[in-house]
Amino acid sequence: MPHHHLPVMGPADIVVFGGTGDLAMRKLLPALYLRDRDGQLGTDTRVVAVSRSGLDVAGYRDKVDSELRRTAPRWAGPDACDDGAVVDRFLARLHHVTLDVADDDWSQLAELLGPADDRTRVLYLASAPQLFGRICVGSAEAGIIDERTRVVLEKPLGHDLASAQAINDEVGSVFAEEQIYRIDHYLGKETVQNLLVLRFANSLFEPLWNAGQIDHVQITVSESIGVGNRADYYDGSGALRDMVQNHLLQLLCLVAMEPPARIDGEGVRNEKLKVLQSLAPLDGADVVRDTVRGQYVEGLVDGTAVPSYATELAESRAGTPRERDHSDTETFVALRAEVANWRWAGVPFYLRTGKRLGTHASEIVVQFKPVPHSIFSGFDGEFPANRLVIRLQPDEGVRLHLTAKEPGPGGIRPIPAPLDLSFARTFGDRLPDAYERLLMDVLRGNPTLFMRRDEIEAAWTWAEPVLRSWERTGQRPRPYAAGSTGPAAATALIERDGRSWHEDY
Ligand code: BG6
Repeated sequence: MPHHHLPVMGPADIVVFGGTGDLAMRKLLPALYLRDRDGQLGTDTRVVAVSRSGLDVAGYRDKVDSELRRTAPRWAGPDACDDGAVVDRFLARLHHVTLDVADDDWSQLAELLGPADDRTRVLYLASAPQLFGRICVGSAEAGIIDERTRVVLEKPLGHDLASAQAINDEVGSVFAEEQIYRIDHYLGKETVQNLLVLRFANSLFEPLWNAGQIDHVQITVSESIGVGNRADYYDGSGALRDMVQNHLLQLLCLVAMEPPARIDGEGVRNEKLKVLQSLAPLDGADVVRDTVRGQYVEGLVDGTAVPSYATELAESRAGTPRERDHSDTETFVALRAEVANWRWAGVPFYLRTGKRLGTHASEIVVQFKPVPHSIFSGFDGEFPANRLVIRLQPDEGVRLHLTAKEPGPGGIRPIPAPLDLSFARTFGDRLPDAYERLLMDVLRGNPTLFMRRDEIEAAWTWAEPVLRSWERTGQRPRPYAAGSTGPAAATALIERDGRSWHEDY
């Protein structure tokens, strides 16, 4: 299907700090390439990578070239890099400056960039967050920014409330809030945005979207990958910081928020903030009761034997396998949250996420209440209550589980019958990666899908007591076999309430 009204962006300079890093290579450059391939980048747009690598521009272009050939076909089909002229046009946009932002002289970068004039200047901070403040201050001192410059911040934005505030203060001492784009790439996912359209462009759901009609909500982000060579970073973080505090809470916000006055930056973010502020605090005894931590041990994923988290950690620290490292970091979390407001009082939101689980699948399940009374008296089975399943990945789509009559004579037998909307089958086209969408939003100056400072801090305000309580009570992660659905305690967490996880992927 053709892209409708695909706007061409004005000329821009996109300066990527951490330009040879994992994120830049695996996500940002392929995303920019694919937008360029679709004709969305302005003619004079440049991408200026900054790193300590010492690469010259030819070396950098080669590096990106081979990365594009690896990644772009996975995103956009086998012919993604077949048109040599298109690839060359993109590579010609790339520049590289070697710079140690902590020590060096920034004049080479400043000279290359020159005056911004009417070009949009974007600083993309894809480096370690400890450098964010330094990069902002250095950019100001080097005179490469002004009040029109936009700055994009990658996660992790802090490891608790105080560190998040410190980063926000440092960046905020140079840039105004309107200039700051904090990425949560889950907000760039097609189905996540579709949640907004589903809720607010259909009249069907809103009257049912409340504690009167909804029994509970489940949000699952299940990954089959392990932590691999990110173990060292991951070990200082864990699943609550890495996934729940940001991605899962953002999904929760989009499910739970009130209809915004407008779909714009302030409208949407004001409503999300109110949800975060309404989250019932989880602390002390609540944490022991309502959260489960897990850590994977060895097991089978898709028929392949995989090592435990502890082994991966030891390997990534030592370079070679050795005695297992001990770690209390969780690679799985399940928890029961509540949004304590008028719409949602008493409706549990069950959240779970983990690495090395048996399936790679993310979805939001909205479970409606059962019918108040069944008139099908001759029917001795129970029929399930309606369930709306929003599938984020893979196989994006929406499925509404209804009950229908089994066709044919012989009485009325209600049977489950899903209404199924598969985006791939219905709309045909590939869905762009989240970064493609979000990068274009930065260039067009649309902050709706980025996180405002107060949102990040409200999310930490809720998450931090959970972390503190785990430390205080010594609540250690429970082992779960790689390839499973997580620790048995996570099943018990929801079954205790007479409910069960939706496992029908
Ligand atoms: C990142 C986390 O933010 O999101 C990773 O740091 C995780 O640990 C990733 O694997 C998941 O993103 P996606 O888009 O693959 O679901």
